[in-house]
Amino acid sequence: MLGKKVEDALNAQMNREFYSSYLYLSMSVHFELNSLKGFAHWLRIQAKEELAHAMKFYDYMVQRGARPVLSQIDAPTGKWKTDIAIYEDAYKHEQKVTKYISELADLARAEVDHATEVFLQWFVNEQVEEEMNASDIVNKMKLAGDSSGAMFVIDSELGKRSK
Ligand SMILES: [Fe+2]
Ligand SMILES: [Fe+2]
Repeated sequence: MLGKKVEDALNAQMNREFYSSYLYLSMSVHFELNSLKGFAHWLRIQAKEELAHAMKFYDYMVQRGARPVLSQIDAPTGKWKTDIAIYEDAYKHEQKVTKYISELADLARAEVDHATEVFLQWFVNEQVEEEMNASDIVNKMKLAGDSSGAMFVIDSELGKRSK
């Protein structure tokens, strides 16, 4: 059985992952409408990945005999003036998620829940990748500056993302 504190924290993170999916999809819309289909595609795949993250928490809770409770998901409120602001927000968002994951890992350790600690290791590693991916795209956009040619190169690269 999961301890109550760990169970609640896992459940909260599951719902945050659903929110992440929502957030990335809302970011994708901006690029869809600005004919940067590669940027849009990358975010759409990311939205799917966040759903998969949520389901990892869901499945783990079920495995441990706990009930995943689906909460109301906030509407993403971001209104972005520039393309790069979106990916900067994505990067900030992932840094926040990393903080939540480490707090969860700290809690699992404090509660001496070894199984949950091991389960969370996957997310600890995943967050290293998530932060790197987002900051890498921000850096490329900075390098592109005002060059629409360079933006189209990045766009076609991001359009190749398969998972
Ligand atoms: Fe995630
Ligand atoms: Fe990822």
